[in-house]
Amino acid sequence: METKIFKREQLDEAVSLLREGELVAFPTETVYGLGALATRDDSVKKVYAAKGRPSDNPLIVTVADEAMMRPYAKEVPERAEKLIKHFWPGPLTILLLAKEGALPESATGGLPTVAFRCPDDQLTHDLIAKLGYPIVGPSANTSTKPSPTTAQHVYHDLKGKIAGIVDGGETEVGLESTIVDLSVNPAVVLRPGKITPEEISQVLGEEVLINRGHVSDKDVPKAPGMKYRHYAPSAQVYVVDQAETFAKLDLDVSCGVMATSDLLENLPVPEENKFNLGKNLTEADHNLFAGLRYFDDRPEIKSIYVEGFDQGEESLAYMNRLNKAAGGHHV
Ligand code: TXA
Ligand code: MG
Repeated sequence: METKIFKREQLDEAVSLLREGELVAFPTETVYGLGALATRDDSVKKVYAAKGRPSDNPLIVTVADEAMMRPYAKEVPERAEKLIKHFWPGPLTILLLAKEGALPESATGGLPTVAFRCPDDQLTHDLIAKLGYPIVGPSANTSTKPSPTTAQHVYHDLKGKIAGIVDGGETEVGLESTIVDLSVNPAVVLRPGKITPEEISQVLGEEVLINRGHVSDKDVPKAPGMKYRHYAPSAQVYVVDQAETFAKLDLDVSCGVMATSDLLENLPVPEENKFNLGKNLTEADHNLFAGLRYFDDRPEIKSIYVEGFDQGEESLAYMNRLNKAAGGHHV
């Protein structure tokens, strides 16, 4: 199958493909998603096949606005209204009880809940609005690889397997949306993202719990994706917790280093083995996945040392992804 790249002028072509049940990747403010008509079982199943994703891992349902979500939710509690009003469109995914039978089981993984997301991206808003139906939207990477933050990353993983990619350039945030579960009380953040538990708590005016995600393979996890290997390049990743540690590492040509500009500058490592994460945590969020992919395309790199951040709730999302990529290995 030829994988076409669509710009704004070709959006109608992308809409037609989705309507016919084909897969089209789309940009969001967080990472690229892999779109398929959420109401059609056969198109949703193609998503699992293209990604190589376990079929018990449910998909996010991506909508153009709140009105498009309503027919698929059993109820929209006041707490959800508050969060939607404040954060949508934006990087917050909201878990609600599903309206029974409204979506195919392939989309919900057979769970009683559905995760709804309304991305802040004009191209994707127009794509879904023109289609008139929600699309499922897992990150558009091969399962276990870092999420894609450019159309080129998507093409690298899925070329020949999907009908097209809507190219919206580099994504802004770089890490996937915060997922908050409103089907329980108090609300629980299942996956940290740019929107922090504290911000959610302030808008709700109530306590919000954080799921730390210690899920073993035997458990039925609350956010099923949490039990799988994730974001992992072929090389072994190590989290470097203290900046001073970089200078003490025994680095050779098989080592890659990902760190902020100031730290990188003085390291005795060949330039091509350095990946600049930027000036601060926000830039590191934006660049983390691109860096892991940079080294994944270099088979001679056997270990990657990545700067850790310790900035409370602000760095929860970054450290969550990095810890998974590292499989818990710290130095
Ligand atoms: O920013 C994002 O959320 C991106 C962009 C493309 O929108 N999407 C994304 O989707 O990250 P995905 O499938 O890679 O991650 C969604 C996570 C998975 O861990 C999945 O298990 C969990 O959400 N999830 C989806 N539906 C769920 C449900 N009903 N209950 C619990 N967890 C759910
Ligand atoms: Mg994903």
